[in-house]
Amino acid sequence: MSFEPRNLFVTGGAGFIGTNFVRHWLSKTKEGRVIVFDALTYAGNMDNLSGLERNPRYEFLRGDICDEAKVRKLLEQSRIDTLVHFAAESHVDRSILGPDDFIRTNVVGTHALLKAAKALWIDKKMVPAHRFHHVSTDEVYGSLGPADPAFTEATAYAPNSPYSASKAASDHLVRAYHETYGLSTTVTNCSNNYGPYHFPEKLIPLTIVNILLGKPLPVYGDGLQIRDWLHVADHCEAISLALKRGKAGEVYNVGGNSETANIEIVRALCELVDLRLAARPELEKQFPLSPRFNGKSAAELITHVRDRPGHDRRYAVNYDKAAHDLKYTPAKNLKSGLAATVDWYLHNIPWWQALLGRDYADWLTKNYSR
Ligand code: NAD
Ligand code: TYD
Repeated sequence: MSFEPRNLFVTGGAGFIGTNFVRHWLSKTKEGRVIVFDALTYAGNMDNLSGLERNPRYEFLRGDICDEAKVRKLLEQSRIDTLVHFAAESHVDRSILGPDDFIRTNVVGTHALLKAAKALWIDKKMVPAHRFHHVSTDEVYGSLGPADPAFTEATAYAPNSPYSASKAASDHLVRAYHETYGLSTTVTNCSNNYGPYHFPEKLIPLTIVNILLGKPLPVYGDGLQIRDWLHVADHCEAISLALKRGKAGEVYNVGGNSETANIEIVRALCELVDLRLAARPELEKQFPLSPRFNGKSAAELITHVRDRPGHDRRYAVNYDKAAHDLKYTPAKNLKSGLAATVDWYLHNIPWWQALLGRDYADWLTKNYSR
């Protein structure tokens, strides 16, 4: 029997994927409310949600997922039937430098949400039907060799970073709450997302921003590590499908059909930004240090730096189950998706410039590999 989500509680909705999901969901559905619940850490940004305040179906509430009592009260007050859980510490490099926040938010926080959901949906039977959807990552499966088959839902967990270990722990807790208490859960394990509102500490937005600012483009190690890039719009559609068509207790892998080495991504972005700047000479005033405006090409900024410790070599996702059961298929292709992403960063300069004054600059100087 399919589930009809009505009132959504979206944790981490002020972050990259959560923001895209909230916009996607509100535009594709006509009824029901969406409450964004977010602690607004360095990665959460109210600018991501701007414009939505005019939508009567949307509400923002600030709070920490570890605050079980608060979450429980809010779920009850708004008769929430669907919890979509994005909130997390999400950056692998930060997890290497300081794992504690990852254990707190990703493990303890997910457990606090599960407890609140169980108390209302199982113990109190507050709503006739419910769904707890957990957004996870392909990184829980570890690293593939060049000839290995892509990860399936049956691949054994082998997380290698504190980040992926904390996500693996949260996946296991979600499973346990389904098996033990009958909580109606679904999990999606997706590959690396890219697209609008991506915080410029991650490879793709960092590369675009650094080209514009004329800063080095750090490529970890040989740059031949492979990721299966997934446009965030495809990921949001996959989550929507999992909510509507997913079966309780099931896990679905979500991939983008776009296995590519990091160095190729960086080179493609160099070409794209050079091309765009050539067509828009007026941007020289804003970005005088960008190579294009100095008779050079952006690729000259590529700088190989010390490799990330425990760096996973290759991720690849087999999404046959989602294709069959959810009718999911990624619609975006990487080439046009990257071009659209470059355009988004060029059309939303104030959005990312506002972030540079924050923790970002600090982070760049502290990063272990620079
Ligand atoms: P993000 O870092 O951009 O956003 C995380 C959001 O969670 C922020 O708005 C932050 O303020 C909020 N948050 C953090 N701690 C919180 C807490 N204790 N209480 C409430 N809110 C808190 O992350 P993202 O890239 O949007 O990722 C979203 C989810 O998708 C994460 O669970 C991540 O593990 C998963 N995921 C991401 C990717 C990717 O490529 N970005 C890939 C696979 C899975
Ligand atoms: P990232 O965007 O941090 O995502 P994840 O670690 O979750 O895959 O990194 C994507 C890939 O790019 C990963 O192999 C690490 C690499 N990388 C660099 O080479 N340089 C960088 O500055 C960053 C941030 C990442």
